[in-house]
Amino acid sequence: MALLRIQGGTALCGDIVASSAKNSVINLISAALLADGSVTLGNVPHLRDVSTMIELLGHMGVVVVINDRMELEIHPNAITSMKAPYELVKTMRASFNVLGPLIARYGEAEVSLPGGCAIGTRPVDQHLKGLRALGADITMHEGYVRGVVSGRLQAARIMFDFSTVGGTEHIMTAAVLAEGTTVLENCAKEPEIEDLARFLNVLGADIRGAGTSRIEIHGVERLSGGYYEAISDRIEVGTYLIAAAASGGSITVNNALASHNTALLAKLQEAGAAIEIGDNCITLDMTGRQLKAVNIVTGPYPAFPTDLQAQMMTLNCLAKGASSIQETIFENRFMHVPELIRMGAEIELQNNNSVALVKGVDRLVGAQVMATDLRASASLVIAGIAADGETTVDRVYHIDRGYQQIEERMQRLGVDIRREAR
Ligand code: EPZ
Repeated sequence: MALLRIQGGTALCGDIVASSAKNSVINLISAALLADGSVTLGNVPHLRDVSTMIELLGHMGVVVVINDRMELEIHPNAITSMKAPYELVKTMRASFNVLGPLIARYGEAEVSLPGGCAIGTRPVDQHLKGLRALGADITMHEGYVRGVVSGRLQAARIMFDFSTVGGTEHIMTAAVLAEGTTVLENCAKEPEIEDLARFLNVLGADIRGAGTSRIEIHGVERLSGGYYEAISDRIEVGTYLIAAAASGGSITVNNALASHNTALLAKLQEAGAAIEIGDNCITLDMTGRQLKAVNIVTGPYPAFPTDLQAQMMTLNCLAKGASSIQETIFENRFMHVPELIRMGAEIELQNNNSVALVKGVDRLVGAQVMATDLRASASLVIAGIAADGETTVDRVYHIDRGYQQIEERMQRLGVDIRREAR
């Protein structure tokens, strides 16, 4: 296992180009299974989660090649197996979403239940409810979900019990080849859902309303191949903006849409940062400015994203004043708290660990800390950059799931950080 060794006390300074969104690209790879032609994805980030999806499709016989333009070429017609095994699905739960496309295109599939992860039990009941409503016969067998339909899936009206990003994406994708017009209500509205709909429409689907709580999918008989590039990664953009603010530095993030981060930008301005919005870029300057603590309540888009909660906690640890952070999406997403406390943070958990009360301290002190999940590891790297002294962040494979070349990028922003094998 590798670790990151960080010498703290540096104010970030410089600029980066944000990658394509991890949480969009992995959806596009799943949805490509619907196509009866080759799909090419450009500007794909080099991330563990993307590699896991490629490995999964390869396991099913789908030919996936990286061409000389570093684009991902997916040839779904080469598929030989409709089974997604546990050992792959457990490492990246979003791979569960191959179930719907396989049933829709081939009439059958067997996909391992994804199981929980560090941040919560993460059930898939809304996914199964939607697939059953579309006419799939869904059964469970030894930890696997089997789905079968004779002929085409049939359109339905489906109301999600609550806002589920993966559920909305999964059922929207499965309905593309269904007979008739499917209406999904109480949908999640994340930008990655709009991106997925745009991609599917490029391939010949007819989806309207993605990005709102009501989505209409007019079923078509087939999807062609095509070319697509995913949107910018709003969580990676936010992570670097927070890192610059927490370290008292300045940054320009290129390939960044302010409209995808309105909640974060409002909170960073409230925290005292100077923000400038350019054409497809965001500049933040915290040089010589006092960091002020801000209260956070996570929620479905466009509310403050749960995927930036841990990073903002680090910022609050270093800010003047007290603040509260309420996590409303996942039941166990404060595992970075004990690690931050080891670095001198003052944080108290309340309300069955759904609220963190943070009291800003003058400084954090470097320590040996351990990553527990993707976004918690980002918060620890930010803490290490801002802290006095040396910090080592262990189990850095977590961070490689969602942040491309983090140490190289941080080095270019002036940080003394290096990766070491253990
Ligand atoms: C997506 O997860 C993202 N992952 C997560 O990002 C993100 O935190 C989350 O949306 C919320 O924005 C990807 O896009 C690959 P949900 P997802 O379905 O789809 C419960 C990261 O760090 N639920 O909106 O799993 C669920 O347990 C990752 O990049 C059910 O109960 O999120 C959770 O408590 C982490 N039943 C809540 O709903 C279901 O059938 C929201 O989950 C589905 C979900």
